[in-house]
Amino acid sequence: MPETNSIVDIRATIVQIRPVSTAVTIITLDCPAIAVAAKPGNFVNIKVSDATLPLLRRPFSIHNVRGSLIDIMVKSIGAGTALFCDKAPGSTVMVLGPLGNSFDLAGKEFDTAILLSGGIGTAPMLFLEKTLAAQGKMVINLIGGQSKEDILAENLSNCRFATDDGSAGFKGNVVELLHSELPSIKKEGPVKVFSCGPNAMLKAVARYCNEQQLAAEVSLESVMGCGIGICYGCSVEVKCQDGGLRTILLCKEGPVIDAELLAV
Ligand SMILES: Cc1cc2nc3c(=O)[nH]c(=O)nc-3n(C[C@H](O)[C@H](O)[C@H](O)COP(=O)(O)OP(=O)(O)OC[C@H]3O[C@@H](n4cnc5c(N)ncnc54)[C@H](O)[C@@H]3O)c2cc1C
Ligand code: FES
Repeated sequence: MPETNSIVDIRATIVQIRPVSTAVTIITLDCPAIAVAAKPGNFVNIKVSDATLPLLRRPFSIHNVRGSLIDIMVKSIGAGTALFCDKAPGSTVMVLGPLGNSFDLAGKEFDTAILLSGGIGTAPMLFLEKTLAAQGKMVINLIGGQSKEDILAENLSNCRFATDDGSAGFKGNVVELLHSELPSIKKEGPVKVFSCGPNAMLKAVARYCNEQQLAAEVSLESVMGCGIGICYGCSVEVKCQDGGLRTILLCKEGPVIDAELLAV
């Protein structure tokens, strides 16, 4: 997975705030230095308030890049995300990024990319889809949620849905949806899966893709502090090639890892 090397810490102006559901808001920041260097899968670490609390920055995937602007898709789940979503256009926040590695789009080993996401894990998929489409890849989005209110498919193309309650698309989880769609998708040529969502979902995705011998990468979540490899707040265990376990810092060697390395 390629790593990012041009990290900046800048005060960025919020140019737009747009709610897309009761809990989710898209926040647009003007930060040219991050926009130009960002790759799909990268994240930014944002100080959502100039006050002492919350002390730590909060990590967010880069949802989209538009010229000098980046969009962040934020789900309000606690104090930090609520403060961020309550900001007004024209206000500023400190933004550190682009951070982490990115999805590996190189190589000719796949013609079709399956972007498999759940809940707020759909956040990095728009930037990923745009980049893959520019490379001439066929893109299919498989998006899961508990019910249709959790599906965040805005601006994504070729979408198929899975909901636990059956209120949108396939009734079941997104791995079951993948299983039902895979035979027809495979007819179009070699496939690679790119996935982001709750860690429990990613474990199921990794297990399934490994069984099916599908190339797959998963973008993991963890609590983070510094975002740059100093605090050790984001350590997670992954498999080694020899079958043992090793610890990585998700902010540096992740958030994207090969599905074969996910300890399941
Ligand atoms: C690489 C990365 C990319 C992310 N991208 C996005 C994104 O694009 N959009 C988005 O809305 N969120 C994203 N997140 C999650 C986001 O960082 C957390 O939701 C946020 O930090 C919570 O802050 P808070 O102050 O609102 O919640 P807190 O008050 O800190 O926590 C509220 C509750 O959420 C739990 N929680 C906090 N952080 C996380 C986490 N990282 N994973 C799981 N549970 C957590 C806490 O344990 C607590 O139960 C990402 C996280 C990572 C690591
Ligand atoms: S968040 Fe500090 S080391 Fe990863």
